[in-house]
Amino acid sequence: MEKTRNAELYQEANVYSPGGVHTSIRNVDPHLIFTKAEGAYMEDVEGNRFIDYQAAFGPFVLGHNYPFVNEQVKEAISRTDLFGVGTTDMEIELAKKVCEHVPASEQVLFCNSGSEATYHAIRLARAVTEKKKLIKFQGCYHGWHDYVARNMLSDWDKIGERDPGSAGMMDEAIDNTLICTFNDLADVEETLQKNKGEVAAIILEPIPHNIGCILPEDGFLQGLKTLCSEYGALLIFDEVVTGFRHSIGGFQEIAGVTPDLTTLGKAMANGYPMAAIAGKKEYMSRFNTQPGGDVWFAGTYNGHAVGTAASLATIEMMEKEPVHEHIFRLGEKMRSGITEIHDMLNIDAFVAGFGSVWTTYFMDFQPKKYSDLEYNNGDLYVRYRKKLLEKGIFKMPMNMKRNHISYSHTDKEIDLTLEAIEDVLRELI
Ligand SMILES: Cc1ncc(COP(=O)(O)O)c(C=O)c1O
Repeated sequence: MEKTRNAELYQEANVYSPGGVHTSIRNVDPHLIFTKAEGAYMEDVEGNRFIDYQAAFGPFVLGHNYPFVNEQVKEAISRTDLFGVGTTDMEIELAKKVCEHVPASEQVLFCNSGSEATYHAIRLARAVTEKKKLIKFQGCYHGWHDYVARNMLSDWDKIGERDPGSAGMMDEAIDNTLICTFNDLADVEETLQKNKGEVAAIILEPIPHNIGCILPEDGFLQGLKTLCSEYGALLIFDEVVTGFRHSIGGFQEIAGVTPDLTTLGKAMANGYPMAAIAGKKEYMSRFNTQPGGDVWFAGTYNGHAVGTAASLATIEMMEKEPVHEHIFRLGEKMRSGITEIHDMLNIDAFVAGFGSVWTTYFMDFQPKKYSDLEYNNGDLYVRYRKKLLEKGIFKMPMNMKRNHISYSHTDKEIDLTLEAIEDVLRELI
């Protein structure tokens, strides 16, 4: 295969699309053009094969092109597609499954992306509470819309400051989203107190995976729930990454804390487009899918057969096979293997993670909040990831990005990855 093909096609892509990619964060060096994906592997147009831990930012919990999911999707689209009226047998079946498994889900509605789901959750919380303001946490990501696109991967001098993520955002949306520090209940309480009677909801990733893996400290999630009831706000767990990946019932099931509303996406359909908003029936029935409901909910492609069949197949796999047991075991093997390598080579680094997710921070303590990550050696982090890529291990070559293990990864891939990590770290130090 020609070794210039990635560069040539990237140039061509730039002619027809700004930056040549279709999501900003995908524009990373090296610019690769992907043509194949299977199980734990992805391949570019030059025939370079990688063990994939990027997993398209998380959906692939079973692995790429997973045969059972693909078969179920093919079977579904051989008889059905999309109607734009009424509902379908598969939508009913899937809604039932989500309500059976996800603690917060007394009722659920389907949409197509995590951003749509968080948008709907926030609008619903505002309608229910008749309040405007929203609390989100520095570093968390909840999608691209104006309500939440601020204080994501902020520059260090912008932490907690007014930091909109985009030009063109509405000031009212930016300024009604208040920013707090993760794992700091006192900060949340002070913010609620200062904005008494004005906060509609607190939204959070129960594990902020958009900055790698920062675990909630004991009592933090429960403390937020208590504060929400004291101050009349709704608690929204954005489980777009954690849902189905960490457990079939989401991280809320593991933490034993049930939020008022929750958003789901990514791993729910193992790579096919699908997302959901779920929550207490008394709130969900405000949506105007219910006659008399006054909160708008719509979408041409909602409940499309492709995403619905893929979700049913993914959930069925989780119900009948030891998916979580497998990915958790390999996650643990990866984290302890990397930690051993660090100890052997005397490297100051912390391997963070949960279940199938892990991140190596080049800093010598466990981060608890976004500002701790200033101590991460970002330059080393990116160089390390680029070197791993040269060895066929694909981790997103950007600062603070997490890695994912799927049901298609085996001990063989973990062993190869650990070998590559040791080689790269020896080269780098
Ligand atoms: C926690 C979280 N919420 C929401 C979103 C937005 O989802 P989507 O990209 O499907 O709109 C993401 C995407 O990465 C996410 O990680």
